[in-house]
Amino acid sequence: MASAAGGFVGAHRPSDGQHSDSRAIRRHVIVASGITALGGLLFGYDTGVVSGALLFLKTDFGGLSSFQQELVTSLLLVGAAIGALGAGRISDRIGRRPTVLITAVIFVAGVALAAFCPDFYTLLAARIIIGLAVGAASMVVPLYIGETAPPKVRGAMVSLNQLAITMGILVSYLADYGLASTKNWRLMFGLAAIPAVLLFIGMLTQKESPHWLIMQGRDDEARKVLSRLRDPKDIEPEIAEVRQLSSHEKATTKDLFSPAIRPLLSIGVLLAVFQQITGINTVIYYAPTLLQGAGFGDNAALLANVVNGAVNVGMTLVAIRLLDRVGRRVLLITGTSGMAVGMFLTGFAFIGGSTLKGGLAVMAIVGLLLYTGSFAIGLGPVFWLLIAEIYPLRVRGAAMSMATIANWAANFVVTISFLTLISVISTLGVFMLFGFLTMVALTYFIRKVPETKGRSLQQLEHDLADVPAPLQRAA
Ligand code: BGC
Repeated sequence: MASAAGGFVGAHRPSDGQHSDSRAIRRHVIVASGITALGGLLFGYDTGVVSGALLFLKTDFGGLSSFQQELVTSLLLVGAAIGALGAGRISDRIGRRPTVLITAVIFVAGVALAAFCPDFYTLLAARIIIGLAVGAASMVVPLYIGETAPPKVRGAMVSLNQLAITMGILVSYLADYGLASTKNWRLMFGLAAIPAVLLFIGMLTQKESPHWLIMQGRDDEARKVLSRLRDPKDIEPEIAEVRQLSSHEKATTKDLFSPAIRPLLSIGVLLAVFQQITGINTVIYYAPTLLQGAGFGDNAALLANVVNGAVNVGMTLVAIRLLDRVGRRVLLITGTSGMAVGMFLTGFAFIGGSTLKGGLAVMAIVGLLLYTGSFAIGLGPVFWLLIAEIYPLRVRGAAMSMATIANWAANFVVTISFLTLISVISTLGVFMLFGFLTMVALTYFIRKVPETKGRSLQQLEHDLADVPAPLQRAA
């Protein structure tokens, strides 16, 4: 499991609301946001770029079967699940900063291998290596930032990460579209080296996480780091609080399954699984392949993909504005309902077979845009936000890590089987299945997911431990 250390995210809320206008602190927060954005950007770019690259890749290496295309797409996700698990442990042992630096190096190595791969199997190896880095980044970058940023901006950071993911996806779609005429899939993969190098350089300018230093008993160094990040009066209380919390026994896997935590663990893991089995990444990774198969030209398919990526970013921005106003549940429930309608619309467009013309082509595109926009306003950001909010401090790192791994694993299962499933039960059948699973998810969210808006993490820790979930909604 990642660590009880991850649990210190949110450890010092008492200073929330206190305003410091120190310019230096602001600068550090901005730099930290930039680094978060680079981690999320790489996550988005490396997972999104394959969608367009597949169109050109599949005719290379003597032609790729559907299963080989699925392998190129989804082996990254196997690497990501391993990376998310490993990064938690490694960052506990050697620190967050060196872990991010190693992650950036792995990114560059994997991306270079993909861009210059001599054969199909080397490409698969490269995708696994990139996956290790994507998974590690999805875990350790928010962990580092969470421990480094002042409490009052931590909530925004979590959702900024989702925004960065969607921006990475959009940038990758633009790269795919811009390079379509050259059919240069190697460059499409290779461009990811730029943000990876920037992540490495950015991290070099940063200090180690103060909380990790305290946990190592290196209080003097932590004090020095904190003096750049906090009001002077907040420093000693924070050190004392983190030291006290780190003296607790580390949470074990058994603690995660204790009667108090189990219901919350199921909520996180089920949100993770529902986020994936309702089909988002079949759209994010395979939309151009589907549209091309339905009779769209390469350019039209990639352009539609860019529009879809832009809707994803735009609606994530809307979600960030609304999450703290209308609450998580309203967005989650409205968004998931929209996803179901979008899925059914897209599915019905394929009722006459896999080729789309005229009105049916428009219906498929409208359905896809509605689906993606609805995901971006609800289940996309809300999953990542809730897993950062609902767990008691002591198990937060471990529980978040488990939900993250469940997310990558479910993503893998869906992505590895999607094209094959289409050939077995047809495009209509697959989208109906996703529509049905979205309805199941919706029912579960309505019944079980608590509202967390406007409550401090300590309050939530108290409330979620004492009150059965459905009652908390009224709170
Ligand atoms: C999901 C990713 C997905 C992305 C799309 C994230 O919340 O975890 O799997 O690709 O949203 O925007």
